[in-house]
Amino acid sequence: MSTGEFFATCNTGLESVTVKELREMGAEVFDTSPSRVYFRARWSDIYHLHLHARTVNRFFGLLARAQVRNLKEIEEVAWQVPYEDWFSNTLAFAIRSEREGTHDFTSMDIARVVGQVVCDRFIARRGQRPPVNLDAPDVEIFSTLVDEQFLLGLNLTGSSLHRRPWRQSLAHLTALRPTLAAAVVMASGWDHRPLVDPMCGTGTLLIEGALWRRGISPSLGREEWAFRKLLPHDETRWQEELAQAHKAGGESPPLRGSDWNARYVEVARQNAQGAGVSDILFTVANALTLPPPEEPVVLVTNPPYGVRMGKPSELVHLYRKLWQKWSAEYGGSRIVVISGNPAFEQLAPLPPTVAYDFLQAELPCRLLIWDLPGG
Ligand SMILES: C[S@@+](CC[C@H](N)C(=O)[O-])C[C@H]1O[C@@H](n2cnc3c(N)ncnc32)[C@H](O)[C@@H]1O
Repeated sequence: MSTGEFFATCNTGLESVTVKELREMGAEVFDTSPSRVYFRARWSDIYHLHLHARTVNRFFGLLARAQVRNLKEIEEVAWQVPYEDWFSNTLAFAIRSEREGTHDFTSMDIARVVGQVVCDRFIARRGQRPPVNLDAPDVEIFSTLVDEQFLLGLNLTGSSLHRRPWRQSLAHLTALRPTLAAAVVMASGWDHRPLVDPMCGTGTLLIEGALWRRGISPSLGREEWAFRKLLPHDETRWQEELAQAHKAGGESPPLRGSDWNARYVEVARQNAQGAGVSDILFTVANALTLPPPEEPVVLVTNPPYGVRMGKPSELVHLYRKLWQKWSAEYGGSRIVVISGNPAFEQLAPLPPTVAYDFLQAELPCRLLIWDLPGG
């Protein structure tokens, strides 16, 4: 396969960060839609992208994208796809179907129609159809219909890349998705200044920041790579890319994290060690009584929002105190905050320089950046 069409899934509202990331890695981005970025690349680029893209949840082969009005048209579009070039009929497949909008058929109907087309096309081209296995398929085809927009993609990744091998994921109720944390740090404009997170929880923002700036893959040690079962796969090329990724590792400005919960700080240390960035300095401290920084910093954090952690009245008190402290002590610093609570922005002493609206598990949030005067 030479150049092909693919798409990546990412954080809704932060697609522009993923566009920049994929372009910097040589992908030819040609479109976006909510939580998706469409691009052209060579098959061999897919290996590098899987190891080094930080804001992407999954990559897909773009099988079809079309306007459709009914199941008959879905069937016609699905019939044009050369599934037999992607996988052999010895592999078990599943159709995963999602639908939004008003239709007189269900997502199950779409899955049934597309599944039948896949079988019929294999019988026509290869004489035998592949088996279906909905619980543990070798190959997953995702079908999405939003109003009249139909999308068919073949999952190249397997489970989402946000499941980082380094991470103890059940350790914190409100830990950030690493793919979102990476997007935040990449959008933050972090330069030569130290990166600090005074409410770091399990350290996700700092660990993703360190991995990004040092060019270390966040997915080293992952074992599940769905593309390895597909026909275009080249194991030699993949092993070369993997060996390169194991050698990578540059430098970055210093990183410091703190949280008042000692248990989270311990998990943050263990996560950093697992990710190969154990030099990040983690301490147990109250964000309101930390000593002032010796030089301007980039402060990136996600304070409690009050949805799963913290009472609203206590939060307003915390936000007010944080702003008083930062305004007095962090002159010349950049403050980068993810907030799902509008009070944080309302209490700020000045309007943000940059703001992005995005969704975090269906909760509307803002990524806000302030440059504090002075320093
Ligand atoms: C939304 S969580 C951060 C999650 C983190 N980004 C992660 O991925 O694990 C907010 C954190 O702020 C911490 N926190 C709240 N108030 C604090 C304070 N005054 N000083 C230090 N940490 C505080 C909580 O313990 C919690 O871990």
